[in-house]
Amino acid sequence: MSASHSEKKSSRPVEPASAAGNDLQDNLRRLDRLANLGLVSASLAHEIKNGLVAIKTYVEILLEKGEDREMAGVVRRELVRIDGLATQMLRLSAPKSKALAPVSIHHLLDLSLRLLEHQMSGRMIVLKRDYRAGSDLVRGDESQLQQAFMNLVLNGVEAIGSNGELTVRTETAPGGPGGNTLKIYFQDTGPGISPEHLSRLFEPFFTTKQNGTGLGLAISRRVAEDHLGNIEVVSELGRGSTFIISLAAER
Ligand SMILES: Nc1ncnc2c1ncn2[C@@H]1O[C@H](COP(=O)(O)OP(=O)(O)OP(=O)(O)O)[C@@H](O)[C@H]1O
Ligand SMILES: [Mg+2]
Repeated sequence: MSASHSEKKSSRPVEPASAAGNDLQDNLRRLDRLANLGLVSASLAHEIKNGLVAIKTYVEILLEKGEDREMAGVVRRELVRIDGLATQMLRLSAPKSKALAPVSIHHLLDLSLRLLEHQMSGRMIVLKRDYRAGSDLVRGDESQLQQAFMNLVLNGVEAIGSNGELTVRTETAPGGPGGNTLKIYFQDTGPGISPEHLSRLFEPFFTTKQNGTGLGLAISRRVAEDHLGNIEVVSELGRGSTFIISLAAER
């Protein structure tokens, strides 16, 4: 066992003198592969969407003819779902946005929450806002950030189901690329997340929902990273979950 282990090691050339250079090259190759992967999935998503347009047209004709309405209805519903999936894939592999502008995070949170307020009150979910950040300005892409916020709120709503509390909190923390970090907490009183799921949450296509795409968190993480930030989760079974987005704050 240990022999084969050391054999494996020695089969790899080790050059300590140029280790830093190799690391850099490895990283560049990895980035290149990732960029290619993005391109491939974007093209793939495009092709899927193009195919869907044709299929959709035929299904519409079938529906009009009134032939097997039920079957056509099922196909139509599935098409809408796949269409949504392809759209999310495109967003996931889209290159970084270059249209950056100062964004007021409190304003954007209010806007995002307003869109989901109706859904929350219908499910008897109490929304609490606790905006503590002194300055809420972030340099970024407003629509991408809104998408990330809505993904996290929706996950919270879906986790709670009905009767519970959703708290959105902000605070400024020292440190980070811009000097300060703006932290946004999305806390729910849902069932929490098991340890084995916790490690897979941000993987694209990981979902425990029947109609989920499993892309919501992958996209949210990508958005946070595009804004020099990150996303973390704290969860305990039976006690709910908190997702925390950290973003580089503008001075
Ligand atoms: N607040 C939460 N509480 C409990 N589990 C969560 C929470 N947020 C995410 N999860 C778990 O993480 C999984 C992945 O979430 P993600 O948002 O990426 O995809 P999804 O919600 O399943 O699908 P989609 O966002 O495309 O509708 C979910 O299926 C769920 O199991
Ligand atoms: Mg989701």
